[in-house]
Amino acid sequence: MTAMDVMHPEIQDGCTRRTVLITSAAGVVAATLPLAGGAAPAADTAQVAPLAELTLRINGQPHSLTVDPRVTLLDLLREHLHLTGAKKGCDHGQCGACTVMVNGRRINSCLTLAVMHDGDAVTTIEGLGDPKKLHPMQAAFVKHDGYQCGYCTPGQICSAVGMLDEMRRGMPSHVTRDIAVRPLFSDEELRERMSGNICRCAGYPNIIAAIREVVEKTAGAAA
Ligand code: FES
Ligand code: FES
Repeated sequence: MTAMDVMHPEIQDGCTRRTVLITSAAGVVAATLPLAGGAAPAADTAQVAPLAELTLRINGQPHSLTVDPRVTLLDLLREHLHLTGAKKGCDHGQCGACTVMVNGRRINSCLTLAVMHDGDAVTTIEGLGDPKKLHPMQAAFVKHDGYQCGYCTPGQICSAVGMLDEMRRGMPSHVTRDIAVRPLFSDEELRERMSGNICRCAGYPNIIAAIREVVEKTAGAAA
């Protein structure tokens, strides 16, 4: 051991803390400087997703589409096909404003990618009825003032139509344990089954009254 080693005990194989720091700093500077000769920096390497082809039947009409595979069903309907009935409320499955029916079942269209529905049949509020020939659920919402601002209404109506079909097919509600203690068509049961559709205007009593009318008419027609 030399006198120098005693004064600088970190020296190992000719390498000091200072030389390590200087070498590292030089590396960082070199990495951030433009390349010699003015060469351009490396090109942006972000990948673009390849487009996907799909066929959907929307409100009875076939559509062949080429879309970015990251597009949600809601954005496909609204931005690509200009079917703006389904609304974007929260865009993450909390409000139900985007509810449509796929193969007869209600879903939140903001939570599903369009490419997952190749070959499926989609029904939006535009496909349920029109001003000259309203769907019975649409007519009941009008009759009972089941809306105020109307933003949630397309989702409420699609959800109600899907819900009644679920009840006819005997599908349990989300709180299955309660079904034994709750009459099938009680207001409580209807509210539970519609709980995925939020109305910021709080038009719930009128919404339930509208749904109840359709339930009773349907039950009367079936009797
Ligand atoms: S926009 Fe889809 S649940 Fe709110
Ligand atoms: S009617 Fe306004 S949010 Fe429901």
